[in-house]
Amino acid sequence: MRSSPPFRNRGVAAGLACVLLSGLAYAAPASAASPPPAPLARGAQAPAMGDGLALTPPMGFNNWNSTHCRPEFNEAMVKGIADIFVSKGLKEVGYEYVNLDDCWALPQRDADGKLVADPVRFPNGIKAVADYVHSKGLKFGIYTSAGTKTCDRIGFPGGLGHEYSDARQFADWGVDYLKYDNCFNQGVDAKKRYTTMRDALRATGRPIVFSICEWGENKPWEWASDVGHLWRTTGDINDSWGSTLAIMKKNLPLHAYAKPGNWNDPDMLEVGNGGMTDTEYRTQFSMWSIMAAPLLIGSDLRKADEKTFEILGNREVVAVDQDPLGRQGEVISSEAGRWVVAKEMADGSRAVALFNESDRPQRIATTATDVGLPQARGYRMRDLWQHTDAATAGTVAATVPAHGTVLVRLWADRDWKSYPPALEAGQTDAWFTEAGVPAEVSTTVTNLGRQKAESVSVDLTGPAGWTVVATSRTVSEVLPAGRTLRTTWRVTAPAGTRPDVYGLTLTVAHRSPGGVRVVREQPVSAGVVVLPPPGVSFLSDSSWLSATNGWGPVEKDFSVGEAASGDGGPLTIGGTRYTKGLGVHAPSAVEYYLGGECFSFSAKVGLDDETGARGTAAFEVWADGRRVAATGVLTNALPAQHLSAVVAGAETIRLVVTDGGDGMSYDHADWADATLDC
Ligand code: GLA
Repeated sequence: MRSSPPFRNRGVAAGLACVLLSGLAYAAPASAASPPPAPLARGAQAPAMGDGLALTPPMGFNNWNSTHCRPEFNEAMVKGIADIFVSKGLKEVGYEYVNLDDCWALPQRDADGKLVADPVRFPNGIKAVADYVHSKGLKFGIYTSAGTKTCDRIGFPGGLGHEYSDARQFADWGVDYLKYDNCFNQGVDAKKRYTTMRDALRATGRPIVFSICEWGENKPWEWASDVGHLWRTTGDINDSWGSTLAIMKKNLPLHAYAKPGNWNDPDMLEVGNGGMTDTEYRTQFSMWSIMAAPLLIGSDLRKADEKTFEILGNREVVAVDQDPLGRQGEVISSEAGRWVVAKEMADGSRAVALFNESDRPQRIATTATDVGLPQARGYRMRDLWQHTDAATAGTVAATVPAHGTVLVRLWADRDWKSYPPALEAGQTDAWFTEAGVPAEVSTTVTNLGRQKAESVSVDLTGPAGWTVVATSRTVSEVLPAGRTLRTTWRVTAPAGTRPDVYGLTLTVAHRSPGGVRVVREQPVSAGVVVLPPPGVSFLSDSSWLSATNGWGPVEKDFSVGEAASGDGGPLTIGGTRYTKGLGVHAPSAVEYYLGGECFSFSAKVGLDDETGARGTAAFEVWADGRRVAATGVLTNALPAQHLSAVVAGAETIRLVVTDGGDGMSYDHADWADATLDC
């Protein structure tokens, strides 16, 4: 079943509240990516729930992101997850709540107005499942809506007008957590609806974490500090990079509202669901943790791979999320897709995320004092994904892969000398190479510490079949503090290598002051590209360098279908069908390699007819870092617009679609007849 907005029944609360995503482009203007200043001073003392619940962000599981209403959401699944929490050590890591989402009930209440569990999914009732979860030392959560029906299109009974009876029933079943949605709310004031349920939950006498899920529509961060323990700040997440990024950007500026007992909720984790890369899932996990977000696992752990468990089970990252001070990380800087976010920790240290929004590797840097630490001679810097320590004189920097996040923790530590100097290693810029043609690239290793690094050596290895030859120095007997070892390499991908982005490994070794050999591997990447054919050609006949999309994959010669590749309809704008082009869903960015060989780009752009009169989007063309053409906001009411751009000399072209400023719902956007003249 599809759950994207065009196919969902949201009752009177139509449309998702998603963010304008104009900062998606690789070379996004700084202003587009900078969040507005937070409206409250840090630590603003709005009244909290005061019941001692959710003093750190709730951790656990919720089935929605992996099952929606499909039949595999049932008793066996819920019990299976509880078992895995114990057997795989996730309970030890801190995951506690096992929560049911929508579709657990029958569509009708019983004669007494009580909710009835779906007898097919839950043949033994809800209490039996809750008891099972409790027997594992875990807690149990349930879902309903602050309206007359829930959000699934079948529409299960909602809690509006039944608050006290439903809350009583939940408490009798042993519910420890309630997610309270917003569909079919009949236009009743949100504060009133959520406050009534809060009071009903309190009246049961059972401690129940109260999760407000009104998608940020009524700014609950401004009024709900004594109503709920957490509140959704955005519309629904889906398992795509575009959605994750949009939600992250909407949640970051709300940092001042988070505190023990009150959390901003950017929706549940997608880690392990398959629509993103492991790098992107590590980014979601890192960024959700630095934002002190609830960590509700959204994948079916019965089918999860080891990588998924490794990400979800990273205790050092979880410790950032669960820090008792309860601060949400703040954006320190954000420029051209390079984000620095820092979170003050209870022990005075800072967690620092270097997050690369762009589609190619970038160096991201900050300093210990910029993230709020006092001046010191040296700092201990711990990499929370590599689990290594090093000493820096103050610079915190890394070459971060596309969509990746480097997460470190930084202490002003008098013992900094006991750690080896931090060596920052990376590629100097994005690497492109044609299969079978040698490319010259360079790497750098910089000593960020205060002490010299000795016997520094560097090696670069490519995927099987690639040849990599150093064409300059790879060793430095002594690399003083602040100095760089720069090495050039000749890299050749074998003839016939498919165009794509490939990972290479830069291995850096050195001897610490204590004589210990330190070896670290730094991922780098190279795009294998093909030059576009001479003359006029359709872009949909070429391979892109990278593609991100708000829902499902970008489609060639079809509109976006939102799920699998090839599931779209014909490209149709204003009643005209096109056989060639790209079908995307805002927010989207598709990048192609031009190698300086092309003159111009042309397309007919617009919203695809298939979403009715509901879509809005704006189209932009970027040549390298420059925006060379753009439309205003287009709607379904408009015929295709001709968009052309001069791209002479550019190495890459990037086709960007933003959501038109009203959230991403229904934004099926077409680049019809997109051609290059080279
Ligand atoms: C809404 C919520 C989602 C999920 C679904 C269930 O869309 O925002 O998180 O609970 O309803 O129908």
